[in-house]
Amino acid sequence: MEEKQSPQLTDQRKKDHLDLALQSRMNALQADERFYYEPLLSGHPSHSNIPETPWDGKVLKNPIWISSMTGGTAEAVVINERLARICKAFGLGMGLGSCRILLDSDQYLSDFKVRKFMGDQPLYANLGIAQVEQILLQEAWDKIERLIERLEADGLIIHVNPLQEWLQPEGDPILHPPLQTIVSTLQNIKAPLIVKEVGQGMGPESLEALLKLPLAAIEFAALGGTNFSTLEMKRRPAGNTGEYDNLSRVGHTAGEMTRFVNEIVSRLGDQVKCGSVIISGGIKDFLDGYYYMQKLRFKSVYGQASGFLQPARKSYDALYDHARGQIDGLQMAYGYLRVR
Ligand SMILES: Cc1cc2nc3c(=O)[nH]c(=O)nc-3n(C[C@H](O)[C@H](O)[C@H](O)COP(=O)(O)O)c2cc1C
Repeated sequence: MEEKQSPQLTDQRKKDHLDLALQSRMNALQADERFYYEPLLSGHPSHSNIPETPWDGKVLKNPIWISSMTGGTAEAVVINERLARICKAFGLGMGLGSCRILLDSDQYLSDFKVRKFMGDQPLYANLGIAQVEQILLQEAWDKIERLIERLEADGLIIHVNPLQEWLQPEGDPILHPPLQTIVSTLQNIKAPLIVKEVGQGMGPESLEALLKLPLAAIEFAALGGTNFSTLEMKRRPAGNTGEYDNLSRVGHTAGEMTRFVNEIVSRLGDQVKCGSVIISGGIKDFLDGYYYMQKLRFKSVYGQASGFLQPARKSYDALYDHARGQIDGLQMAYGYLRVR
């Protein structure tokens, strides 16, 4: 404190203010009009003012989910370990990337086996709807039970990605409506289930059907961030994407899905059986996350995939700083911002 008041520092600060003031003007058009800013109602948060979120018998200390990403490459081991350690450090939850590669072999198990770094935080295995459909057709449900057991996971995420599978050069066919496969999975496995897209989101009929099911959560994986239709088209031979470029623009943003869920939940009342929503897909930062969590009239946390991937590829420290920044920013938002 004394240090902050020293004459030299005060002098430097005043000089900085004179030097920088003219370069630090804000155009009113840049105002973030999603929030009321209420500076009178809180001191600087000195300890967490962020509510904890109960999660299927566990707790998320901060309402942030690391969305499913990787496994099956050399880099994945390091990335997954860093992500898991961050979950433990900050009390977050995490979905693993597709664990398909583990269904019939343990060769890549160590890429995904992160429970020892996670502590008791929620950790979910992940499979695509096409693989779950095959398991259904073979009545091989024990493969899923064993997968969850081997990973010491809490449950399973199913990603429903018909556009990605269709555009992927080596993609798998989806033979039946995913809803049927999801209902059968709920009937045949005991572990909690989360259903997500992979970056196009879902429309109101799909959301309504899912909200009526006893899922642990729906993850939006909305349009507006990482886009796997675009990504798969980039993987096509000779960049032959022309005909299908338009498909990458089809889908629903997190804002639109938030409105859909609010309307559905208020109409369905007790018929809603799903427990939570993970608001994800194009969530840039804690302000986006805070905004949608406040807008959604349903238990929710927010999720990021690429937002965590970039620092996770650099170093644990970079990832730590990213997570710390999200949480400190969220504390300020809870203190001073009300959604309009
Ligand atoms: C490198 C990478 C790999 C991904 N792999 C999977 C996956 O295996 N399974 C899955 O459900 N989603 C996967 N996703 C999709 C993300 O979970 C998420 O839904 C999507 O990236 C949108 O979030 P974002 O905009 O924050 O990146 C992946 C995303 C990235 C960036």
